[in-house]
Amino acid sequence: MFFLPKALIVLLSSAVCSQALVVTVEPKVITVRQGEPVSFRCQVGSASPSNVVWKKTNSQRLPDNVQISADNLLMTIVNARPENQGQYRCVAGPPAGRAFGTAVLNIKFPPKVRLNHVGPLRVRIGDPVTVECSTTGRPRPKLTWKRQGSTLQLVTTTTSDVNTIQWPAVRPEDSGVYLCQAENTEGMSESKLEIIVEGGLGAPVASVSTSQMTAIEGHSVTMQCQATGSPTPEISWSKLRAPLPWKHSVAGGVLTLNSVGRQDSGQYICNATNVHGYSEAYTEMEVESPPYATCLPDQLRLRAGDALHLQCLAHGTHPITFQWSISGRSVLPPGSETARDGKLFIPHIRASDGGTYTCAATNHIGTSSASARVTVKG
Ligand SMILES: *[C@@H]1O[C@H](CO)[C@@H](O)[C@H](O)[C@H]1NC(C)=O
Repeated sequence: MFFLPKALIVLLSSAVCSQALVVTVEPKVITVRQGEPVSFRCQVGSASPSNVVWKKTNSQRLPDNVQISADNLLMTIVNARPENQGQYRCVAGPPAGRAFGTAVLNIKFPPKVRLNHVGPLRVRIGDPVTVECSTTGRPRPKLTWKRQGSTLQLVTTTTSDVNTIQWPAVRPEDSGVYLCQAENTEGMSESKLEIIVEGGLGAPVASVSTSQMTAIEGHSVTMQCQATGSPTPEISWSKLRAPLPWKHSVAGGVLTLNSVGRQDSGQYICNATNVHGYSEAYTEMEVESPPYATCLPDQLRLRAGDALHLQCLAHGTHPITFQWSISGRSVLPPGSETARDGKLFIPHIRASDGGTYTCAATNHIGTSSASARVTVKG
């Protein structure tokens, strides 16, 4: 003999009553990229679909990019945004009882980093300093602090959206540019912070006139470095992971590079040293060059009706655009196809299409041309 408490009987019978109503949402869990569309379908057992509503868990209103079909059973997000992430509920109401089904939407989006300081951060020698880098982005980005000009990771945390560098007491040699980088499968983002440590009793503090510059191949470049400190620091220049170009001179903290080439691109380091220590400052220099075009092949003999394939190749700073022409004619033969990578294709060449085919390769510095002689036998 056993007794069921009365309350339990009521509970059991109400469970039986609402058993008729089963609500499920398909898909149950889905991950989409930012900007992609996504739909969820609500399946309501036997109930009339007129009493169906969609809700976002922990918020009253559905985001404004959510669309609900006329029969209320299909919820569509046209252009998924990070704030669409979360749990959604399809709730079916009376008279058939009340039940809901849930679905989880995850949004993948590229990281964006933010620092708790902007601009150069001037601190006094010996002071404590904390720099914090935080990021958004899903999947959760890998966050790394690096020092400009060094490949060493300073701090890496993979389990958190915040990555912090802390100095209990900064030293003059901690002056420099620090980079926080965040990377996930969707992209990467970085932010820089320059830290200038001041006021060491006579310790050197180096600074460069520009931290980033571009130069054109063959031109001369000057970089200036200044240093404070007592006694007056000695200034020396070096290049990261390479010797200084041989056509260089240094005078009074100014580094001059004559007739730079592409291989001279890189980070240049000014080092100011005195008895109290040293301080480094970096200038990143990139050498850009005009295009240099060649045509492959540069001579071509064809029969009328043959296909013509020519490829224009160019060295130089990207982006490079290509333009084909034929000497003495204003347009290419009918049926010609050109591609962004410099290819020219003519499916059926005619005897009258022989001549000098010229390709002009252009970037923001200049233009270079190369030609091919094409002869067509009738
Ligand atoms: C700068 O000078 C200091 C002291 O001479 C030296 O320890 C340091 O390696 C130098 N840095 C570079 C980049 O040459």
